[in-house]
Order: sequence, then C-alpha cells, then structure tokens
Amino acid sequence: MNQRPKVLLYEPMHQKGIDYLKMYADVLYASSWDEDILCQEVKDISGIIIRANGKVTTKIMDSAPKLKVIGRHGAGVDNIDLEAAKKRGITVVNTPHAPAEAVAEHVIGVMVVLSKRILESDRALRAGQWDVRYHFQAFEMKGKTLGIVGMGRIGSRVAEMAKALGMEILYYDVVVNPQVEGKYDAKKIELEELLKLSDYITLHVPATPETKYLINAERLKLMKPTAILVNAARGSVVDTMALYDALKSGKLFGAAIDVFEKEPAPADHPLFSLPNVVVTPHMAGHSDDALIAMSMVAKDIIRVIQGQPPEYPVK
Ligand SMILES: NC(=O)c1ccc[n+]([C@@H]2O[C@H](COP(=O)([O-])OP(=O)(O)OC[C@H]3O[C@@H](n4cnc5c(N)ncnc54)[C@H](O)[C@@H]3O)[C@@H](O)[C@H]2O)c1
Repeated sequence: MNQRPKVLLYEPMHQKGIDYLKMYADVLYASSWDEDILCQEVKDISGIIIRANGKVTTKIMDSAPKLKVIGRHGAGVDNIDLEAAKKRGITVVNTPHAPAEAVAEHVIGVMVVLSKRILESDRALRAGQWDVRYHFQAFEMKGKTLGIVGMGRIGSRVAEMAKALGMEILYYDVVVNPQVEGKYDAKKIELEELLKLSDYITLHVPATPETKYLINAERLKLMKPTAILVNAARGSVVDTMALYDALKSGKLFGAAIDVFEKEPAPADHPLFSLPNVVVTPHMAGHSDDALIAMSMVAKDIIRVIQGQPPEYPVK
C-alpha cells in the first residue's frame, strides 16, 4: 500500500495552506524547536515547513532520510542550512513575494507612528497628561530623506510609498536597481553617506555573514540625532546594545524594531525600557493576505514531493 507523504509544520499556519497540504499529504506539527526533539520527529517526513522560529540544521536533515523539500513560509531563509540541503539534494522553496506588501506598509506605519509620536502621546494621555500636546514635537515626512538599505522587493515597495509621501529616496545595495532609480528618482550611494544624509533609515537586507552588525556603534554615530531607524529585516543586522546606547543617550531620535537578535525576544529586552522605540514581535509581514499567500508555500512542497519543479526554488 502506498503511504501518504508526511509534512511537518514547525509552527501553525493559515488554514488555506493546511487544507491544500491535506489533499495530498498528512500534516504533523513539531512539538518543539529543540534540535534533538526535532531529529526524532522528522524520521518519516517528506517535507518541512518552517516560519521564523526554529532552524533546519544538518543534523535534522540527516535524521530525515525521506526529506525532499523544506519550505520557508515567508522570505528570509537564514534559519535553513542551505549548503547542507544542497549537498543532500533537498530542495528549498519559499514565498518571496508574499510578505512584501505587508512589510512595506508596516515600515511606513511605524515611521508615521514615531514621527507623530503617537505611542508616546497615547501613553501620556492614558496617564492623565493632556499637557503633552504642548511639549511633544511631531515631524512631517514630506521633503525628508529616506535611506533604504537593501533595495529588493520590500525596499522597492517602501520607496514607492515614501515617494507618494513626498520623500527623497537614497539607497544602498550591492546591486543597482534601475527601476527605482527611474521611477522614484532613488539615488544609490555608499552606506556611510546614506547614514549621514538620511532622516529615516530602513533596513531590507537578508541576514548573511556580510550583513551581520551592518549597523554597529561606529555607523550609528554617523546618523543624525533626529533620525529614525527601522529594522524589519533581521535582528542580526543591528548591534542591539549599540542601538540601545544611541537611543538612550539621545544620539538617535527613535527606532522601530520588528526583529531581534534572539527570538522570541525576552520580556526584559533592553530596548523595551525606552520610550522612543516601537517594538513588534516579528510580525511586519503578518497581514491577512500575506498569511494566506505565505501558507501557499504548500503548493511548492507538494510539487516537489510529487517530483515536479517548484515555482519558487531558493538557489
Ligand atoms: N519582518 C518580517 O516579517 C519580514 C518579512 C519578510 C522578509 N523579511 C526580511 O527582509 C529581507 C528582505 O526581503 P526582500 O523580499 O526585500 O528580499 P530581496 O532579496 O528582494 O532584497 C534584498 C536586497 O538586499 C540586497 N543585499 C543583499 N546583501 C546585501 C549586502 N551585503 N549589502 C547590501 N545589500 C545587500 C540584495 O541585493 C537585494 O536587493 C529578507 O531577507 C528577510 O530577512 C522580514
């Protein structure tokens, strides 16, 4: 008798993706993100779907002799050992376009929240401090400079939205993006220059050895004291303690942080004590539409299990 293939989910996902999987496979849920426990749970698994939490390591792959495909629900594949997968002939797929709109909207949203001091005013008013309306100075975004670090899918969409708000766009990337240069008059410059000139800086590079602490103490010093930094890329891109020092000492006006060096971030994370920081638990990409689209990584999982080429292979 032909056994149905088994797909293991590291975290729950939208029902639409699960329903799709269930037409072709049995769906199981990981009981933990602990490597040793996962090694036990992948023994009979043909496909794995991973989100932001947990890792797919060499050891896990070696414990899964039937494993054909690893799917990243979302874009960043830094929690999958890509080299190890390649060596073992395991296909890796993701949903590169699915979270872009949600993340871009989130970035613009937190820029507005920090510029208009919405969270601070909300907290003050609830504490009975009506008078903050005379003290809190808000900023307009029109005419200000936005520096985008990583002009890929998300960065480009942020550029489009920021242009509509009347902002000037600078960007830093390892490649030129002629489309954003033509459409939004974006100018590619060196990172140091971007940090010096920008009123807002938003990070959209992947987590790689090259982007580890791309924003460190030295580079934070280059930013204007009135600048706002947004990180909805990956926690490893920013040196957290250096950022904490810059915010605490007033060398940087504010920051919005969606991603952390260690996730889940602990409740006593140093940044949580600062009033000029907006924090969210790695959910910039969690809109209704994006969650459905990301769950459809299920389609490529089934394609690969059935021996067909995937639509979105990670190379
Ligand atoms: N917070 C969230 O919920 C969330 C959701 C989706 C994606 N992300 C993160 O956002 C990142 C960007 O997503 P995307 O879809 O725009 O990716 P993308 O691949 O379309 O764009 C990334 C850009 O970064 C550039 N880049 C890569 N390495 C660089 C380096 N060392 N220096 C400068 N530029 C470099 C690339 O050339 C590319 O233009 C993802 O890798 C992921 O980590 C976060």
